[in-house]
Amino acid sequence: MKDILESKFLKEFCLTADNMYRLGWDERNGGNISLLLKDDEVKECLDVNKVKRVIPLMGVHAVDFDITPLIGKCFLVTGTGKYFKNVLREPSVNLGVVRIREDGKSLDLLWGFEDGGRPTSEFPAHMMSHIARLSVDPENRVVMHCHPTYTLAMNFVHPLDEKLFAKDLWRMCTECVVVFPDGIGVLPWMLCGTTEIGKATAEKMKEYRLVVWAMHGIYGAGKDLDETFGLIETVEKAAQIYMLTFDKPQCNTITDEAMKQLVDLFGVKVKDGYLD
Ligand code: 13P
Ligand code: ZN
Repeated sequence: MKDILESKFLKEFCLTADNMYRLGWDERNGGNISLLLKDDEVKECLDVNKVKRVIPLMGVHAVDFDITPLIGKCFLVTGTGKYFKNVLREPSVNLGVVRIREDGKSLDLLWGFEDGGRPTSEFPAHMMSHIARLSVDPENRVVMHCHPTYTLAMNFVHPLDEKLFAKDLWRMCTECVVVFPDGIGVLPWMLCGTTEIGKATAEKMKEYRLVVWAMHGIYGAGKDLDETFGLIETVEKAAQIYMLTFDKPQCNTITDEAMKQLVDLFGVKVKDGYLD
């Protein structure tokens, strides 16, 4: 059997977490990632009959969302309280491979969390987001949450209106409208780690691949780690330019007309009603 530490998915996951840390998106234990694994990826490097531990899905909180669509599915996921800084150096402590059990209330730990750890406290939000994304895009495999600096900064000085937020980001870099033409969902400040924020995020995820948690961070979803990382990276770059320019006299802008030309050139579907 292949060593999981040599598997492509684990290596990519660790490098992604490391890049996120280096970009300043994941201070301390900030942020979390979950990757839906393919059955053959799991079987190649793990004995699926060997359960190391059974982990209650929510610990102290009752499970009050329906995880049925994910029963039997395996996820590689970051641990709660674990630092992204340490993922690359010690993956088997900071990450785990878990499988959703038949009862829908607990997880089989197949690998990792070697110091007794458990999945991120945002596991409900991740699972609900996976379900929502899979319902509109069967290829979706990644949910990623982090605290990118400029995106957060922008939450303090920009209205939390979804259309205004997306359009102001689109105006900051020519290719933004091509990278996330579907816009960006925005939630008001809410208590993290709860089923409520999970449900609200998943509701937005039916419409958007990106959801801002005001004054907290961002969620992204995509078919692989690179795509999801790239979405957040593009938003963060645009937010940085916004923060560098918003309070200065403005002489130039990217017009709606220019964005329409980009959308036509790249053949992407822009959110209805966003470009005049
Ligand atoms: P965890 O350490 O539980 O993953 O939480 C980090 C975080 O960013 C919460 O929103
Ligand atoms: Zn967070």
